[in-house]
Amino acid sequence: IPLHLPWIDAINKLKKQRGAVIMAHSYQSPEIFHGVADITGDSLGLAQAAADCDADLIVLCGVHFMAESAKILAPEKTVLIPDLEAGCSLASSITAADVRALRAQHPGVPVVSYANTSAAVKAESDAICTSANAVQVVESMGARKVIFLPDEYLGRHVASQTRVELVLWHGRCEVHERFTAQQARHAREQFDAMLVAHPECPPEVLAEVDFVGSTTAMGKWLEREKPARVALITECSMADNLRSQFPATQFIKPCNLCPHMQRITLQNIYACLRDMKHAVEVPADIRVRARAALERMLAIGR
Ligand code: 13P
Ligand code: SF4
Repeated sequence: IPLHLPWIDAINKLKKQRGAVIMAHSYQSPEIFHGVADITGDSLGLAQAAADCDADLIVLCGVHFMAESAKILAPEKTVLIPDLEAGCSLASSITAADVRALRAQHPGVPVVSYANTSAAVKAESDAICTSANAVQVVESMGARKVIFLPDEYLGRHVASQTRVELVLWHGRCEVHERFTAQQARHAREQFDAMLVAHPECPPEVLAEVDFVGSTTAMGKWLEREKPARVALITECSMADNLRSQFPATQFIKPCNLCPHMQRITLQNIYACLRDMKHAVEVPADIRVRARAALERMLAIGR
């Protein structure tokens, strides 16, 4: 962080001048997460914060679908993302036309989409969920069968927790799909570590771990359990951000970084505030339908 101080100071000054709120996802690097963010959280937390935000300007440090959700929930505000190319392999695994085709194949079956989707896919969905509330959202549909998109592994995890039958898609998170059961066992056997994983990991990894949850839920679990050693089987900025909060815990890292999250830097956050770029826009027809699906999620909460 010391190396970054001049950038952090410059951003914090400019942020005040602009009256901006900086929101950062749990996978942003520590200098962003601890240095310039006003609000941090998982994707549900950031969506809730955008819906409740008083400022007219939001800088979303995260990936594109997160900035899009903020804009959908706060259409009268300016939402900037420091790099428009910060995508997500799950969001790019499915299109609105794919969702329409699935509906045609399964008439009358409601569609629940993961927040990690484009606004156009959200607009075709009945409700949105994140990993923090997927089971609750699926069950709230009141149906025996639900189409659940697009993360196959999250879908399989949700299916293991509910009696609702799920129709799944074949999307994968390019970061979490790379973790292996062997890495998890290694962390436990070699380091006597407890294991916590994000539900985007493959089922054989989730079968090895002590706790499965969203990025915020992992932090809450650490507060409760205070383990001596833990391996967070998720994007490794998570451990970097939590380390200072849990000085008595040793973090064992199997480390995979998300290349999309890492596109956001102090330099492009500064440029974003200086030049008021890149504003995220969602066409009104898509926005209105996507908002209805997102609001169904917000009504359920965590
Ligand atoms: P969370 O909803 O847990 O923050 O996860 C979002 C994400 O992109 C995980 O890879
Ligand atoms: Fe998408 Fe995976 Fe990156 Fe999360 S970690 S933004 S799911 S690619």
